Amino acid sequence: MDGNGRWAKQQGKARHHGHKAGAESVRRVVQACGELGVEALTLFAFSSENWKRPKLEVELLMELFMTALSREVKSLKKNNVKLRVIGELSAFPQRLQDKIQKSIDETTECTGLHLNIAANYGGRWDVANAAKQIARQVQLGELSLDQIDENQLNAFTQLSDLPEVDLFIRTGGEVRVSNFLLWQIAYSEMVFSDVLWPEFGEEALKDAIDQFSKRQRRFGKTGEQIEEG
Ligand code: IPE
Ligand code: MG
Repeated sequence: MDGNGRWAKQQGKARHHGHKAGAESVRRVVQACGELGVEALTLFAFSSENWKRPKLEVELLMELFMTALSREVKSLKKNNVKLRVIGELSAFPQRLQDKIQKSIDETTECTGLHLNIAANYGGRWDVANAAKQIARQVQLGELSLDQIDENQLNAFTQLSDLPEVDLFIRTGGEVRVSNFLLWQIAYSEMVFSDVLWPEFGEEALKDAIDQFSKRQRRFGKTGEQIEEG
């Protein structure tokens, strides 16, 4: 979700207004994904590098996260959306950690869209964290070195219980991954949209899905093999 700051600037407003408008986009896109029957949606809300932003902006983002959780959790539940938050959450203020846990608990019974919010998340952190857990298993004698393979490591990465990431969308015109999901996007289709996140909605989402549906996914095979089915 990129482009909040630039959108605000275009409006002659402070960056914070962009983040607020961005929160409205989150609501619209979550709703649209639910209606379209998307199984899982993972949103990059705050990266492990975003701490480098001005202190005030970081604080305002935290505040926004808090209020959005309070305000939205009821409608998430009503819409059968199951919330998860991925990332190194221990770095957040205790008050926010409690709020996150409470919101997750509220939606545990939901069986519809999996909504994953990545907060203080980094793709490299995710892989390093999985490696650490594998090492622990080896240390405890529960796993031998020979048993370590992609599947074993995968099991310890975030979202491993969910379907593979089919589509990766970045808004705001930059063409880079910026340490979002790394391990998980090995075979994802990528769509880079020029739309700034506060202006991203159902239409832009459908456009991205449309692009996705026109791609031939070969997973290493030849085009001929895919066509033969
Ligand atoms: C949203 O957009 C990203 C976060 C919520 C951290 P930006 O704040 O990065 O917007 P730009 O790139 O300055 O336009
Ligand atoms: Mg940005």
